[in-house]
Amino acid sequence: MSIVVRRPRALAIDDPGRTFLDDVLAGLLAEPKRLPPKYFYDRIGSELFQRITTLPEYYLTRTEIGILEARAGEIAKLIPANAAVVEFGAGSSAKTRILLRAAPQISAYVPVDISGAFLAAETAQLQQEMPDLRVLPIAADFMAPFALPAELGGRPRIGFFPGSTIGNLEPHEANALLRQAAAILGRGALFVVGVDLVKDPDILTAAYNDRDGVTAAFNLNLLMRINHELGGEFNPAAFRHRACYNSEQRRIEMHLVSLARQRVRACGKSFDFRRGETIHTENSYKYTVESFRSRALGAGWTSAATFVDAQNYFSVHVLRAKDAAA
Ligand code: AVI
Repeated sequence: MSIVVRRPRALAIDDPGRTFLDDVLAGLLAEPKRLPPKYFYDRIGSELFQRITTLPEYYLTRTEIGILEARAGEIAKLIPANAAVVEFGAGSSAKTRILLRAAPQISAYVPVDISGAFLAAETAQLQQEMPDLRVLPIAADFMAPFALPAELGGRPRIGFFPGSTIGNLEPHEANALLRQAAAILGRGALFVVGVDLVKDPDILTAAYNDRDGVTAAFNLNLLMRINHELGGEFNPAAFRHRACYNSEQRRIEMHLVSLARQRVRACGKSFDFRRGETIHTENSYKYTVESFRSRALGAGWTSAATFVDAQNYFSVHVLRAKDAAA
């Protein structure tokens, strides 16, 4: 199995030269304090996220899988013969399998993920199940430009970005990702994107404040990660998880709230916290079908089809590249 690692730095949405240390220092010195959500996903954070996807309050994963299962046949009809699926982040093997099984005309699969080890394990299993599928993993940060493997040749390309991960991007980052995907996938491409929808704030806030405290542990694990990797001295018991819906910005915000006035050492520096001061750790933007279509339209994509569940909780958009974007 060949793993192509290419992470050109020019035009990066995310500066790939920045380290965890750089981002933690900058974030804790900022006012208000913040930390980028991409650092949630160390081994423990990834396991906690896996648990979140199965929680009764976290409707996103099961609703998206339900839409994909119910509408896979219709999605498959839009996919041309001999197509290649390029998945942006490869943490969703159940969803990928639904797409690949429904559309046997897909002849190649290119998962793009920053973790080479994760990719190797996931793709070996898939290759065993689907021996006729050409599996070409790329270990790269999909937020930065990457090159598709030459082996794809002239195959039509279908981007796949499920999970509403696009919701964790700031609007300008989401625009950049959509534009970058149009450039990488090329003329005539499709892009299948899972997007969580604006809904009753009680349902939204419950999804990020589960009864078992798994989301709280996921959020607080970021402090543990700073302790382990950057010599931090955070006492996680001195912070509390908070998730609330910001209806003006249409986003769930996650914060870590300092329960006391305290001084914490990390990265060789001291950081002062007021009682009640927060570290803003994540935004999870929610869209309407129209607001997402209009963002996509501004970034090189038209809408080929949109599928939502019966409760209007979640949407799966099939976008088609505008010729000008190719
Ligand atoms: C990965 N992402 C789409 C999740 C979300 O819902 O924004 C991350 C998450 N944060 C808290 N719970 C789940």
